[in-house]
Amino acid sequence: MKALILVGGFGTRLRPLTLSFPKPLVDFANKPMILYQIEALKATGVTEVVLAISYQPEVMLNFLKDFESKLGIKITCSQETEPLGTAGPLALARDILADKSGEPFFVLNSDVISEYPLKEMIAFHKSHGGEASMLVTKVDEPSKYGVVVTEESTGKVERYVEKPKIYVGNKINAGIYLLNPSVLDRIELKPTSIEKEIFPKIVSENQLYAMVLPGYWMDIGQPKDYITGLRLYLDSLRMKSPSKLASGAHIIGNVLIDESAEISDGCLIGPDVAIGPGCVIESGVRLSQCTIMRGVCIKEHACISSSIIGWHSTVGRWARIENMTILGEDVHVCDEIYSNGGVVLPHKEIKASILKPEIIM
Ligand code: GDD
Ligand code: MG
Repeated sequence: MKALILVGGFGTRLRPLTLSFPKPLVDFANKPMILYQIEALKATGVTEVVLAISYQPEVMLNFLKDFESKLGIKITCSQETEPLGTAGPLALARDILADKSGEPFFVLNSDVISEYPLKEMIAFHKSHGGEASMLVTKVDEPSKYGVVVTEESTGKVERYVEKPKIYVGNKINAGIYLLNPSVLDRIELKPTSIEKEIFPKIVSENQLYAMVLPGYWMDIGQPKDYITGLRLYLDSLRMKSPSKLASGAHIIGNVLIDESAEISDGCLIGPDVAIGPGCVIESGVRLSQCTIMRGVCIKEHACISSSIIGWHSTVGRWARIENMTILGEDVHVCDEIYSNGGVVLPHKEIKASILKPEIIM
C-alpha cells in the first residue's frame, strides 16, 4: 500500500518554530511530528510514502534519508513548483499512487496527531465499498475545521462543509483519508482544495464515508493546540506505555524526558512537559505544560509554564516564561526576565521583560 502526506504549506501559524524547520519537522514530544505518521503507516503495511512538498524540500529530504533505512520504508518527494493546495498534489503524484495493484491509498495532513487507527480504517473502507473514507472526530469549536454530517447507521457522509461560518455540526474532518485510485480521476493538475472542491462532489455521489476516530486527536498546527495536543498525547502514553514517562518525587503527572537530558536537584516538573535530547535543566527549575526542545538550557530557578522553548535556546536564572510564550531556535533570555506570551524570532537575545503578548522580531 502507498500513502501521501500533505507536507507543504508554510506553517505560518506555528511561527517562529517554522522559520527554522518545515512544520512536519518541528518536534512534538521529542521527535519530529512527521515520524509519528510515517511509523504508523509502516506499522499498517504501507511500503512507500510520498511527501507532497511545496516549501523547503531539501531540508525534508536530507532529514528523511536517514529514516528510510532505519524504518525500512520507501520515502519519496513530490515537489510542487507552485503550491497545489490539498488536492493538486495527488494529481501530481498520480503515477505513484495509482499503481497496478488498484489498492486504495492513504492521504494524511501532516499536522495532526492521533492514535492512527489505520488498520481499522482499511476494514471500514472495505465494509462500505464507497470510493473514499475519512476519519472524523468531535470537537467543541468546529468552525476552524471541515465539518461532516453523516448518516448515523452507516457513516455515509451526507454533507461536507469546509470551515463553516454557521453551525453545521460538531463532527469534523480529522485530516486522514483512505481513497480509491478512482478519486484521482476527479482531480486536475492545478491548485485545488480537496476539502472545498473534491469532497463535496464525492458526497453528492454518496461515495464518502466517515469513521469516528477512537481516542484522542488534535491539529497541532497552532501553539495553543500544540500544547493541548501534548497533554492528550502524554495521557495516551500513560495508558499504553507508562514506563516511557518519568517518575520520582520531582515529577507531577505526565512528563517525558529524553534519556540524554540532565535534570539537577530541586526541580519540580509537570504536568504535561516534554524535555528533549541534550537539554540541561539546572537546579530549582519549575516546568509545567511546556515543551523544551533539543539542546535547551534552563538556568537555576527559572519558571516556565504553558510555553514552547525552541531548539538550543537558553532561559536565564529566575526568569519567568508563561502564557503561550514561544521562543524560536537559539533565543537567549537573560536572567530575571518575565515573558507574558512573547513570540520571539530565532537568534534573538531578550534583555527586557515582555509584559503583554507580542512578537519580538
Ligand atoms: N503539498 C502541499 N501543497 N501541502 C499543502 C498545501 C499545498 O499547497 N497547502 C496545505 N498543505 C498541507 C498542510 O501542510 C497540512 O498538512 C494540510 O495540507 C492541511 O492544511 P492546513 O493548512 O493545516 O489546513 P487546516 O488545518 O486549516 O484544515 C485542514 O485540516 C483540518 C484538520 O486538521 C482541513 O483538511 C480541514 O478540513 C480539517 O478539519
Ligand atoms: Mg492544519
